[in-house]
Amino acid sequence: MAGVPNLADTPWLDPSSEPFIRLRGVTKKFGDFTAVNNVDLDIYKGELFCLLGGSGCGKSTLLRMLAGFEVPTSGRIMIDGVDMSDVPAYERPTNMMFQSYALFPHMTVEKNIAYGLKQEGVAKSEIADRVDEVLGLVELTDFTKRKPDQLSGGQRQRVALARALVKKPKLLLLDEPLGALDKRLREQTQFELMNIQDQVGITFVVVTHDQDEAMTLSTRIAVMDAGNFQQIGTPTEIYEFPESRFVADFIGNANMLDARVTEAGTDHVTVETALGTIRTEQGIQVQEGQKVYLALRPEKIHLAKAGDPVHEGNMQVTGHVEDIGYMGDMSVYKVLVNGETMIEVTAPNLTRPKQRSLAITWDEEVVLSWHSNSPVLLVR
Ligand SMILES: Nc1ncnc2c1ncn2[C@@H]1O[C@H](COP(=O)(O)OP(=O)(O)OP(=O)(O)O)[C@@H](O)[C@H]1O
Ligand SMILES: [Mg+2]
Repeated sequence: MAGVPNLADTPWLDPSSEPFIRLRGVTKKFGDFTAVNNVDLDIYKGELFCLLGGSGCGKSTLLRMLAGFEVPTSGRIMIDGVDMSDVPAYERPTNMMFQSYALFPHMTVEKNIAYGLKQEGVAKSEIADRVDEVLGLVELTDFTKRKPDQLSGGQRQRVALARALVKKPKLLLLDEPLGALDKRLREQTQFELMNIQDQVGITFVVVTHDQDEAMTLSTRIAVMDAGNFQQIGTPTEIYEFPESRFVADFIGNANMLDARVTEAGTDHVTVETALGTIRTEQGIQVQEGQKVYLALRPEKIHLAKAGDPVHEGNMQVTGHVEDIGYMGDMSVYKVLVNGETMIEVTAPNLTRPKQRSLAITWDEEVVLSWHSNSPVLLVR
């Protein structure tokens, strides 16, 4: 958040830049059921924009409306300055990779990728060149003659991506593009996807229900819930400055406390909670006496044995370790404060267990501390 943003990288902050995709009041109903509810959205050229949300929240429906496979019940979609109301799917500057990407089983990798261009009547030599180029991009040059059932899930997924890229759409719509991959391959492919997007420079809209994936990939994220956008922002904004309990809870973990404002200053707000009086350095508009929520991320809390030094000037409370979950790279501590409020704290495992003679164990008295800019106050 520090420094002056470079407007070329953050066009959404530049009032003079024109969005590439513009949605205004877009609603999609299936009978009485509202799958997408009156959403507004601007996406800019070159973005890798993620639609993130739980199952059934309307992600695929929104993507299908961009592609032209679903017609909005009301509202307007503009792509590249053109109103899409009367533009059929095949005439849109878009290509879509579906949630369950179907490759032709009887065709080789090469033929699968070339298929769309052939249908369009592109010249043979050009097809060969373009297929070669995307095969290189997705690193499948050695697999051109194989059929889908001779490939791993990750390789098949890259064929599907190549098939979408080869048509050089201005806008690529990807529905859960990494859904079929295991965790390791998924993480690796996320970086490949970012590199590919960087190289081809086209705009990507990616649907995912995986928060880590959205955080890694995106220029910006729209967090969806029941057909609505809860928040739109960069990964950092969404994580560090959630605007609602839903977002704070959905992205990462957060300790959530009921709070009442006791002092509403210009550069800080003080609230009363089950942990005591907590000062936050946050410029939100609240009034004395107002009921709010305080979110505090587990990794923003420092854990120390009672009696050990804690950073001075930080908020401190004492508690009792009730449970520890060992996750390998870090451990999760459940600490009971004042005998009634369970607070989750995560700490990296800097040393191996045997060396952890100083480590914190079950049933121990501990001191939790945090910086006053760590808690986030939420009004909804
Ligand atoms: N053709 C349809 N007819 C009736 N209801 C539909 C239709 N398509 C989608 N829905 C409903 O609209 C809601 C949103 O569906 P959508 O496919 O957009 O969800 P999603 O966010 O992509 O979920 P997932 O992560 O499970 O893919 C769901 O409740 C779904 O059952
Ligand atoms: Mg879906």
